[in-house]
Amino acid sequence: MDSGGTALSLLLFLSRTILFHSTHEATAAADDRETHLHFFFHDVVSGTRPTAIRVAQSPTTLLSPTSFGAVVMMDDPLTEGPHPGSKLLGHAQGIYALASKEEAGALLMAMNFAFLAGEFNGSTLTVLGRNPVFSDVREMPVVGGSGRFRFARGYVLARTHKFSLLTGDAVVEYDVYVRHD
Ligand SMILES: *[C@@H]1O[C@H](CO)[C@@H](O)[C@H](O)[C@H]1NC(C)=O
Repeated sequence: MDSGGTALSLLLFLSRTILFHSTHEATAAADDRETHLHFFFHDVVSGTRPTAIRVAQSPTTLLSPTSFGAVVMMDDPLTEGPHPGSKLLGHAQGIYALASKEEAGALLMAMNFAFLAGEFNGSTLTVLGRNPVFSDVREMPVVGGSGRFRFARGYVLARTHKFSLLTGDAVVEYDVYVRHD
């Protein structure tokens, strides 16, 4: 190809790149909403009606100082306020697992928030991340969503509101920041 041809194809390539880029930015700016949600997550492991139950472990889990390998299935209520009797907004359904051999309480979380109330009734958000529960603030990615949360991406900040050493039950405050359609 002569140098004129090369220059022309470079120009075409650049203009296409710029066009695509600006179209993409305009679409993102015009359509994306940012939603902030705030609620409390109730993880009840004690009593006769637990919301989180250990479903699997390795033979070595009981010997591990961090219970490495334990897998817990949860269906934890999400409420407006910190009290368990406060208005129900949805459930956190999924799995958490003890994922560190050295660090206590370093969880892998894989869960869906299934909302029941208000404008997000029937919509879901999916969170997949690392949750070191003894840290003051834990950030986890929102990796997707459904319904009103199609194309969701964002993050959550989780803070322990209350933890009972006696029972192991916990109330966790969640702030969710999500961009979606
Ligand atoms: C949420 O949606 C379900 C199914 O459409 C409906 O039965 C229920 O009444 C709705 N709840 C609220 C609080 O709007």
